[in-house]
Amino acid sequence: MMVTGDISMVRSHRWLNPGLEWGLVPTMGYLHEGHLSLVRSARSQNERVAVSIFVNPTQFMPGEDLKTYPTNMQRDLELLKHENADLIFMPENAVMYPAGFQTAISVDDVSQPLEGSSRPTHFRGVATVVAKLLNIVEPTRIYFGQKDAQQTIVIKRMVEDLNFNCEIIICPIVRESDGLAMSSRNIRLFKDQRRAATSLYKALSAASKLFRNGQYDASILRKLMIYTISQEPLAKIDYVSVADPLSLEELVFINDGALFSVAVFFGDVRLIDNMLVRPQFNESD
Ligand code: PAF
Repeated sequence: MMVTGDISMVRSHRWLNPGLEWGLVPTMGYLHEGHLSLVRSARSQNERVAVSIFVNPTQFMPGEDLKTYPTNMQRDLELLKHENADLIFMPENAVMYPAGFQTAISVDDVSQPLEGSSRPTHFRGVATVVAKLLNIVEPTRIYFGQKDAQQTIVIKRMVEDLNFNCEIIICPIVRESDGLAMSSRNIRLFKDQRRAATSLYKALSAASKLFRNGQYDASILRKLMIYTISQEPLAKIDYVSVADPLSLEELVFINDGALFSVAVFFGDVRLIDNMLVRPQFNESD
């Protein structure tokens, strides 16, 4: 396994065996089973697997948790070695954003709602760093988790609009046994907050169940999610949404499918989760 923070090393390693298919798993480190499931998918579908570990400062807003974002490089490298990753790219900030850097990619409409309304510059940072990683690694396939549902939509739009020659693979959300979606931020929850954080999954599951029972009125489904989360005094809702799964526009009535999504604060830890539902089928089935 090659570990480097140097772009030219990645490029020379990448081109050492021309013609091989590469999978790239972009991460911000502090790896958990969710990340490892992406690495395993990449391993099964490509001849070589690259993983990037970079806590990208441009996707954090002032006052967010950039400084406290958890890291454990040693543990990450051991886990990736165990998964047979071939190349780990872990650049310094100055490598990704050298002095004079002044370019950014902005994906307009799908970046605006949900995460974008609470974190207006977030997807600009995400799109820019993912574009850079695509140019540096030139993977055949890139892997993302469905947990960051809006991120997958923004990146799909960017890849199509800018003609990146790369397939996007979206892998299912990996959950703890009590339903909490795995996230590097979960480690920052105090014990009571950790227990209360199961309310996200409870709310999404309750709304999915009501939907399965024939309730297609989006405002009723939203109210049920808000009510379920509000039962937890430690939870402070940022948003609850029932939106079109492609445009992310809020729905009045669900005709085809919907993305149910929530963002909730527990103290200063902000968690997100989502479920995709379709008539006749939904994720909790
Ligand atoms: O999902 C993440 O961890 C980050 O947004 C990503 C895709 C690695 C870009 O920094």
